[in-house]
Amino acid sequence: MTRKPQMASCQLLRLAAAATAVTSPLTPLSVGRARRRRFSVAARLLVVVDHHTTYPTDDAVRHPLKPAASTFFPRAPTWIGEMGWKGILGFDHGVVQAPLGPDISGPELAAAVANAGGIGFLRLPDWPAPDRVRDLIRRTRSLTGKPFGAAIVLAFPHEENLRVVLEEKLAVLQVYWGEFPRERVDEAHLAGVKVLHQVGSFEEAAKAKEAGVDGIIVQGREAGGHVIGQEGLLPLLPRVVDLVSDTGISVIAAGGIVDGRGYAAALALGAQGVCLGTRFLTTEESFAHPLYKKRLIEINCTDYTNVFGRARWPGAPQRVLKTTFYDQWKNLPEQETEENQPIIGHTIIHGVHRDIRRFAGTVPNATTTGDIDSMVMYAGQGVGLITEIIPASEVVKRNGRLVKAPDPMTQVAINGWPGW
Ligand SMILES: Cc1cc2nc3c(=O)[nH]c(=O)nc-3n(C[C@H](O)[C@H](O)[C@H](O)COP(=O)(O)O)c2cc1C
Repeated sequence: MTRKPQMASCQLLRLAAAATAVTSPLTPLSVGRARRRRFSVAARLLVVVDHHTTYPTDDAVRHPLKPAASTFFPRAPTWIGEMGWKGILGFDHGVVQAPLGPDISGPELAAAVANAGGIGFLRLPDWPAPDRVRDLIRRTRSLTGKPFGAAIVLAFPHEENLRVVLEEKLAVLQVYWGEFPRERVDEAHLAGVKVLHQVGSFEEAAKAKEAGVDGIIVQGREAGGHVIGQEGLLPLLPRVVDLVSDTGISVIAAGGIVDGRGYAAALALGAQGVCLGTRFLTTEESFAHPLYKKRLIEINCTDYTNVFGRARWPGAPQRVLKTTFYDQWKNLPEQETEENQPIIGHTIIHGVHRDIRRFAGTVPNATTTGDIDSMVMYAGQGVGLITEIIPASEVVKRNGRLVKAPDPMTQVAINGWPGW
């Protein structure tokens, strides 16, 4: 155990308070108010700046350090509330479970997230399968009475599946990798379905705004799975926040976020919610193969590549776990694709039996057999923060704990730094 976090917190706090003092000239009458304001600003700075200290990972609910924040914040402001958290799209939380293809986020995961107050998404098939979609929705409804959503990838056939989502009046539809213009958004709204568009650039966000979506998920390059843009979340997110500031569109941050610290940072940048993929992938309810989950715990590094799925989905780079197999093949010549490669396993995706060839873009699910370690394993840059497989409800709870505290600094004094 080390005392470093506590020391660093105090020093940073003093520094931050001093810095704000320099920029805030005081009159004698305003001293009390200004001091409280300085502490408020210092608190905001602290929550972002303090990340470089040696904190444990997200299983550290047991962490023994308890910075005596109440000493410094005797009348701590509800700064998280000021930063905009109040749940989004009518849900209790701003915690969104990213859709995880091709079938990793199924009924069990989406329902567990919904039951915990988060926004759970079913990932629908990439081919016309309306009966399957209806069945997924029915199974999810048997597991939760709470609202949930479904997701489609616009680059693949989706019309028939989308029709079922509207007929079944799901709470929310997530779309990714393609155009979803105003007519389509209006159609969803007519059916009472809200629309979230995941984007990877300012230009894409501007189109989504124009289309009248309810929320924009801003995906940074840190994200796991397929990555549509080039920019990091830190610079892109506030630009999108500014872009939609004259609308009621919710902005949700995606990429590398694992716990309450990431959530707080996203809120500080102006987002209202966070979308977690890799963290939900590594839960008990995710349909990922147990060996894939194990590797997510063991390996801390990822890479941005296009080694996998080149034939099926060209021009769609991915962030993957740096497995031994990936390291061996990361310089795969451009002309090579998964076509004409040996079959290394078999799987059932949404009820359909398939072969898996080497370099295919299909992650191993719970039905997959064969050489699992030679299959693609998508993961975001936050994977190094994930040290255990936990229930999905726990992910929602650990993220929500930070933002739900009416007086977070008091909570810090009681529980230690929250959200881990
Ligand atoms: C295994 C895996 C599968 C994914 N599949 C999809 C998908 O089908 N549709 C989609 O919109 N995003 C998908 N994503 C990306 C997520 O929506 C999200 O942007 C990303 O997970 C956020 O970064 P994080 O993984 O660091 O939390 C996937 C991500 C992972 C890790």
